[in-house]
Amino acid sequence: MVYQAFFDSVFASMDPEKAHDRAFAAIRAAGPVTRRAVRVTPAPRRAMGIEFPHAFGLAAGFDKNARAVPGLLGIGFGHVEIGTVTAQPQPGNPRPRLVRLVDDHAVVNRMGFNNDGAAVVASRLHRLRRSRVGRDAVIGVNIGKTKIVPPEEAVADYVESAKLLAPFASYLVVNVSSPNTSGLRDLQAVDELRPLLTAVKEVSDAPGNGARVPLVVKIAPDLADEDVDALTDLALELGLDGISATNTTIDRPDSLRTDRATVEAAGPGGLSGPVLRERALDVLVRLRARTDGRVALIGVGGVTTPDDVRERLAAGADLVQGYTGFIYSGPAWPSRMARAAR
Ligand code: FNR
Repeated sequence: MVYQAFFDSVFASMDPEKAHDRAFAAIRAAGPVTRRAVRVTPAPRRAMGIEFPHAFGLAAGFDKNARAVPGLLGIGFGHVEIGTVTAQPQPGNPRPRLVRLVDDHAVVNRMGFNNDGAAVVASRLHRLRRSRVGRDAVIGVNIGKTKIVPPEEAVADYVESAKLLAPFASYLVVNVSSPNTSGLRDLQAVDELRPLLTAVKEVSDAPGNGARVPLVVKIAPDLADEDVDALTDLALELGLDGISATNTTIDRPDSLRTDRATVEAAGPGGLSGPVLRERALDVLVRLRARTDGRVALIGVGGVTTPDDVRERLAAGADLVQGYTGFIYSGPAWPSRMARAAR
């Protein structure tokens, strides 16, 4: 509630990306002390051969460059998925590229994979893994395609990121579902996805310096059911470790409370928050029915309350993630969500 008052008086009137940067800096700075500030009783959960402190984690996109992992774990996230990281550093789209739809507790983003690039993030993770907190942290690493790389070189681009980052990842995620890199979501078609996942899996199976790294594919909520099924069968056939469902949607559902003009003024990009809940849950249920425990499922999309966490676990998720709820509910949110993740 304190955060709500703070949000209403300070963040709500601030440019959303500036608010993000301020909040991010605070969490990053608090890194060394938050561990003592927040106590979340562990509820260990094994998935993909990894022991997670509990099932709830931070979805990709908040900490794109792995700069605030200790602080984020310190406020109660059980794991952090960093990224999306691309092989080459890139600035992302021009601002404004993050818009709040406050009446829906939703956001539209068209960040466009602004990130430091795989080499810089790899050296940051290398350093983090040598620290006490970093050594045992569960850190997922989400990779995507560099914008300027043409489609026919996409596989090589992902492979380059995988080679640099897999050695430091608890698990690796192939992101083919963000709406803000042109052509990226076309990689979800089985004929495109097969060579991509095969090539990345070769890297994650033998990352160079140690044990194999579990591999996950992250999918869009906008796929037709038949495409979800085809993709699921491919993941099973290739022996992937997990499927993450879902990313943001390009849809603007009728259920939005925000008036149409405001929604349109927000412009193109991926929509997230509670309006995504129903479709993300549908996709999860579909995945669960078809995979029956043979791959781990990460339930993400519109998870904003402890009941949402329980609902996703009951629907067959092994792990649950959220992002937009964090924007609206603040630093006490992860530990509250974690208590439901058991
Ligand atoms: C995201 N998301 C995202 N996903 C991803 O795989 N790579 C990324 O770089 C990003 N970036 C990103 C930026 C912003 C500002 C938002 C709000 C979201 C998607 C995110 O991980 C998640 O899949 C969706 O946001 C749905 O979950 P929530 O936000 O409804 O809990």
